[in-house]
Amino acid sequence: MKTHTSTVSPLEFIPDIRLHFPSLRSGEVFLDNAGGSQAPKHVIDRVCEYFISSFVQTGADYAASRRATHTVSLAHQFGCGFVNASSHSGHKGHCILGASSTALLHTLAEAYAGAIAAGALGSRREIIVSTAGHEANIWPWLKLEARGITVHQWHAVRSGDNTWTLDPDTLRPLLSDRTLLVAFPQVSNIFGEVWDAATITGIAHRAGARVVVDGVACAPHILPDVHALGCDWYVYSTYKVFGPHMGCLYGSADAFAPLTGPNHPFIPRDALPTKFEPGGVCHEGAAGLLGSAAYLRTLSAMATGREPTAATPDELPSRDELKEAFSLIGAIEDALQRPLLGYLAAHPRIRVIGDSAAREGRLCTISFVVRGAESARVARAMNAQGFGCRFGNFYSRRLIEQIGLDPADGVVRISLAHYNTPDEVARTISALDAVIASI
Ligand SMILES: Cc1ncc(COP(=O)(O)O)c(C=O)c1O
Repeated sequence: MKTHTSTVSPLEFIPDIRLHFPSLRSGEVFLDNAGGSQAPKHVIDRVCEYFISSFVQTGADYAASRRATHTVSLAHQFGCGFVNASSHSGHKGHCILGASSTALLHTLAEAYAGAIAAGALGSRREIIVSTAGHEANIWPWLKLEARGITVHQWHAVRSGDNTWTLDPDTLRPLLSDRTLLVAFPQVSNIFGEVWDAATITGIAHRAGARVVVDGVACAPHILPDVHALGCDWYVYSTYKVFGPHMGCLYGSADAFAPLTGPNHPFIPRDALPTKFEPGGVCHEGAAGLLGSAAYLRTLSAMATGREPTAATPDELPSRDELKEAFSLIGAIEDALQRPLLGYLAAHPRIRVIGDSAAREGRLCTISFVVRGAESARVARAMNAQGFGCRFGNFYSRRLIEQIGLDPADGVVRISLAHYNTPDEVARTISALDAVIASI
């Protein structure tokens, strides 16, 4: 049995991995994985099973309701384990599940506005927002200006011809003893670049501010670790990490303490996660999330050559299993992206937006523009041939504008996942070559 070691190419695992994803049989080439990943059979089965066995309301004492309650509770437990917020990590906190990361960040911003208005946060009433990310972690904060809260914008700075970075030195002057929060992305969904969230967090903490890390573009590629980052808030979208369409927001116990969630007034404010989940969560989604946990467990067994254990439905992956799964994901993605980046970097008409060199910290979310051709035209020509990439600003509109691109046309983005194949990458390159030559 093969194991994920330096002597075996990580690409050898792909055929076995693909067997777990029924949608991949369609022959369509999925190149929009940063938009949303495909779902493994584990997820599909758990959702179906939930509808059959426990599609009732949680919280009652009859058997089906007890099963439903258990599923939803276990999904929260997985959310915490996935970001390393379990009690033994030393970074205990709570995970809120919601419709999306955007929705969760709006809920969080509203809770902060309420706490500021109630005087629960002292004289700290300024927020610093990085404009280098998705609007999901910008607008919820910026709109608080209308409620008298000062919001400072923190822009990315140019670090090379086609690269921009979140420079901690440009954050420092924005911080003061009035700063309450710093909101920023861990990875840009345009550049695919991992920024130094731990250093930024440290700087914010030294000024007495908390941080809200948008981990959405990072979590599908690098196992989140709120303990290592030291962050107060961390959000990611489960539908980009091989799960159902939901979002998950981690907050440390201390960060939650002064806030009141939006749920009914008679629900105590320390009843977490309930207080922050008005109307409850998508129960079948919670079941699906447990399916993605089971898939990651299977992947770790593949990576280490272990016989996949017949896990009980309640068995969540250990931290080590998650690490093994993500180590394989990272190795496959790195190997897949190299030829694509090499091709894009060498093409005389292509300008990669972000780093064009495959290296550690460069994720396989790859954006580019083609000289003399609109991104819309390039992407649509690729779509017509069965390649599922797309164009636009990907809701990082402020960043796209800052770097001087038309926000409507934006970039062409090709984002890979560990279930893409070298053949798909090769075919993408040939198709792109032909499309560009024809425009
Ligand atoms: C970096 C980043 N942040 C936030 C979001 C918003 O996530 P959601 O769709 O769960 O609201 C996205 C979605 O694409 C994203 O790429």
